[in-house]
Amino acid sequence: MIYAIVNQKGGVGKTTTAVNIAACLAEAGRRVLLVDVDPQANATSGLGLSVGEGLSTADVVLDGAAPSDAVRPTAIGGLDILPSHPDLAGATVTLPGAARREHVLADALRPLAAAYDYVFLDCPPSLDLLTVNALVASDRVLVPVQCEYYALEGLSRLMTTVAGVRDHLNPGLRVGGLLMTMHDARTRVSGDVVTEVRRHFPELTFHTVVPRNVRLAEAPSHGEPVISYDPHCAGADAYFEVAKEVASRG
Ligand SMILES: Nc1ncnc2c1ncn2[C@@H]1O[C@H](COP(=O)(O)OP(=O)(O)OP(=O)(O)O)[C@@H](O)[C@H]1O
Ligand SMILES: [Mg+2]
Repeated sequence: MIYAIVNQKGGVGKTTTAVNIAACLAEAGRRVLLVDVDPQANATSGLGLSVGEGLSTADVVLDGAAPSDAVRPTAIGGLDILPSHPDLAGATVTLPGAARREHVLADALRPLAAAYDYVFLDCPPSLDLLTVNALVASDRVLVPVQCEYYALEGLSRLMTTVAGVRDHLNPGLRVGGLLMTMHDARTRVSGDVVTEVRRHFPELTFHTVVPRNVRLAEAPSHGEPVISYDPHCAGADAYFEVAKEVASRG
């Protein structure tokens, strides 16, 4: 199963979610690939790789490099990564002129995906052609939603984009779930936003709500997912539960 982690809003927890669900599923014995589709390369550095070392998604998308040559193991057993590079930003300029411009990533990942139980695509904060490529390459869309006012703003545009990709480019695409992130039990707004999102998307919202947890924010600077940085913190507990939900939803 291939998941695109998408929200055009920046800083809502996409990378944190991609890295930590991927690590939890690998820890549970699954073969997992994380594909960094964001030129910011936060998932790449967050898993301890030096950005710029070896081939990346930029080489795959822009130059037709074989993804199997770019994939690398991480310190987490069972978790591989296809790293990113800032050059991937050039895709917004060059991809529009490419043949099968919406399918470049899907075509590249197809031979690779069969070797994994789960593939997660960490997307940039936009709905541009790079994100459309990720949606075309995926079976499911997972949408992290930050617990703050305006959380719902932009979600309808996101859902319209997903529907458009499903109707015209990838009929198998489904929304796999909305995940509430950075919940702060001390503030009323956090609870209000969860209620509001559940009201709009009752079936789609994950039961687990990810709390605001400083260990989740610290872990990337140590190049680790939270389950190895601090396996018993509230953030690790939450992402283990999210991973279980992902596994059971299929
Ligand atoms: N549950 C959480 N508790 C505390 N901090 C968090 C949590 N989730 C994410 N963060 C922090 O918030 C910031 C934004 O998170 P993250 O990078 O995952 O978002 P993003 O959606 O991938 O951002 P971008 O749109 O720039 O790619 C990061 O500094 C991250 O460490
Ligand atoms: Mg990110």
